[in-house]
Order: sequence, then structure tokens, then C-alpha cells
Amino acid sequence: ARDRDLAGLHVLVTAGGTREPLDPVRYLGNRSSGKQGYALAAVAAQRGAQVTLVSTVSTPAPPGCALVRVETALQLRDAVLAADADVVVMAAAVADFRPEHAATAKIKKTFDPAAPDAVPVVRLVRNPDILAELLTRRGEGTTPVLVGFAAETGDEQGSVLDHARSKLARKPVDLLVANEVGDGVTFGQDDTTVHLLSGDGSSSHDIGPADKTTVAHAVWDAVRAIAPTV
Ligand code: C5P
Repeated sequence: ARDRDLAGLHVLVTAGGTREPLDPVRYLGNRSSGKQGYALAAVAAQRGAQVTLVSTVSTPAPPGCALVRVETALQLRDAVLAADADVVVMAAAVADFRPEHAATAKIKKTFDPAAPDAVPVVRLVRNPDILAELLTRRGEGTTPVLVGFAAETGDEQGSVLDHARSKLARKPVDLLVANEVGDGVTFGQDDTTVHLLSGDGSSSHDIGPADKTTVAHAVWDAVRAIAPTV
């Protein structure tokens, strides 16, 4: 029985898309709704886990989950690294880049007749890869089970599964949840189709189309199967 089979585990789930400020009123963001992360947190709490939900969205925390609100990738990183979780599920869409400098005042159009087409130039810098950092730290003695997400589009270079396998080769997490995105698929939708890939890439298990609660149960089942003793 699944009831409370996650009791005794501290799980951390990240949800939503990070917002990287350009100035006090504008940001670079993405279309992640946070729904899958919230479903993962809610189901983990129902199954008895102690849950920390690190979220960029304003939705209230599901029952029994401790909520940490963040906006940027750097804040999300601090929240994840501060927690001492047994399982970390990186469902958030973390921006790969942020503006190098956030302007302290709102960026304005110029009305200089000599430069009527002038535009600001925004230089981006890389954000830290939080999962990669967790993988490195794991080599240094910490042992959380790590679950990554891969939002992929199938293209000429390969299928969603091909892309997911090459992501696993670069980021050897214990479980990779690959979903198909693009053309209004998945982001913000209630039903989703995902592939669960084991860390060694040897097995993949397809779920759906199913609602995000069903997907969440399947992810926690897979975490239990990978690490039955945690
Ligand atoms: O390589 P890619 O960014 O597609 O990997 C996606 C996975 O890595 C997701 O689980 C995401 O939360 C995580 N990620 C991260 N830090 C980043 C970018 C992505 O932890 N800067």
C-alpha cells in the first residue's frame, strides 16, 4: 500500500519558473506554471513525507508543505542548498541565463531625436546549474536522491527520449522525468505525458496522458523503487 510510504523522508520540491530581473518592474521569465511541482509536493505530503516546497509562484502551499518563496535562480539555489533533504526533485524551470546587471531604475525609451531608434543592450550571464552542483556535492558525501526534469521537444536531432538520454549522460541524476513541450503542450495544461528514465538510462516508463497528480504518484513510486532504503 502506498499510504504514508514516504513517512520519515524529508523531500524538497522546486516549482515554477524563475524570474530574472531586468529592472524593478520587468523580468525575463518562462511559461512554467508550477502545477507539476505543486502536485508532487501535495502527493508527497499525503504519502507521509516532510515536504519543503521552493516555489516561484504565488499559489498557496498544499496542506502539510512548508513553502519557501523565491524569484530568481540564485535565490532558488540558496534555498535548495540550505535544505538537508533526502530527496530533491527539481521540477522548476530554472533560467539558464540572467541579465548581468538589473537596472536600479526602470529602463526608459529615449526621446533623443538624434537616436530615435536607440535600444538598451542587455547582456546575459550564465546562472549556476543547481542540479549539476547537487551532483558534485553528492560526490562530497551528501546523499540526496536527485530527480531532474527535462522539458523537451522532438525535432530533427531526435525524439524526446533521445534528448532525455543525452541529458542523463550530462546530468546523471537518479531519475529523469522527460515531458514533451511546445505548441501549448504541457506548460499550464492539466494533462501531460511523461517518460520516467532511470539514472543509468536502462529503463524508461511512459505515463499518460494523465493528470499531474497521477504523474506525481508515478514519480514517487519510482523514487521508492530506486532508493527503497531512503
Ligand atoms: O539541462 P536542463 O536545464 O534542461 O536540465 C533540466 C533540469 O535541470 C531540471 O530539473 C531543472 O530544474 C534543472 N536545472 C537546474 N539549474 C539550472 C537549470 C536547470 O537545476 N540552472
